[in-house]
Amino acid sequence: MQINIQELSKIYPNGKKALDNVNLEIGTGMFGLLGPNGAGKSSLMRILVTLMKPSMGSVSIDSFDLEKNRKEIRSMLGYLPQDFRFFSKLKTWEFLDYAASLSGIKNKSTRKDKVDEWLDKVGLFDVRERDANKLSGGMKRRLGIAQTLIGDPKIIVVDEPTTGLDPEERIRFRNILSDNGQVAFKGTPEALIEKARGHVWQVNTSGYEYDLIKDKYPVVSTIPTQEGWEVQLIGDGSKFTNAIELEPNLEHAYVYFMEMSSALI
Ligand SMILES: Nc1ncnc2c1ncn2[C@@H]1O[C@H](COP(=O)(O)OP(=O)(O)O)[C@@H](O)[C@H]1O
Ligand SMILES: [Mg+2]
Repeated sequence: MQINIQELSKIYPNGKKALDNVNLEIGTGMFGLLGPNGAGKSSLMRILVTLMKPSMGSVSIDSFDLEKNRKEIRSMLGYLPQDFRFFSKLKTWEFLDYAASLSGIKNKSTRKDKVDEWLDKVGLFDVRERDANKLSGGMKRRLGIAQTLIGDPKIIVVDEPTTGLDPEERIRFRNILSDNGQVAFKGTPEALIEKARGHVWQVNTSGYEYDLIKDKYPVVSTIPTQEGWEVQLIGDGSKFTNAIELEPNLEHAYVYFMEMSSALI
């Protein structure tokens, strides 16, 4: 499977440029879009799942073109949006039935079997008659997952699946870093970490010095000590006395890259 994104741009009606000439090839496997709020991650996903049209550029999935083959592409996709809400007063089972028919399962009894199977899988069979919007938060989340998977999609697009995970966990898959609608980095976590080598330092400072550092360098963490602070910063720490160069980890690399790419763009 291959997703090809070419020269993709999105300008919202208010003039906001959410995507700026994005070019990406995504092959089989798991990919993460990583970047600060407003970078354009959700916009890219909404285009990919055919909910929104791009202003410019094209997307193809294998031999299908997003413009010309919307129906085929939809039947390949499962999508869990960032804030998953229920747009109407459907019962829990009706909601899944609706999702199954959108994914192209036309036969009614096949659909009923699928719905029952997924209600059972995510532990919602006992509440199947309850209005979906009256489910608890955790139940809604599970219904969202069932809704995404019920059509047996080849491609699963999940927006912000890692909310609630720590930074390490969030970055632990292959990443595409995005910033201001542009792709800043594409590669494995290991390659991302290597980029930060030599730029991560630990410095011991007094309180006064700390204020100066904070204004000048991106700070990853601060731990109080008897004399002041033990600070992990991104930049050239060799200028400080008692500075120690650190082995970069994923969190360091993320901060380093975001700082560097926003300076570049
Ligand atoms: N419907 C919209 N109309 C206008 N601007 C929007 C709309 N949706 C998103 N944006 C803007 O586009 C940019 C990218 O947003 P989004 O794709 O949601 O980023 P992310 O998911 O990375 O946080 C942001 O500046 C956001 O405010
Ligand atoms: Mg988003």
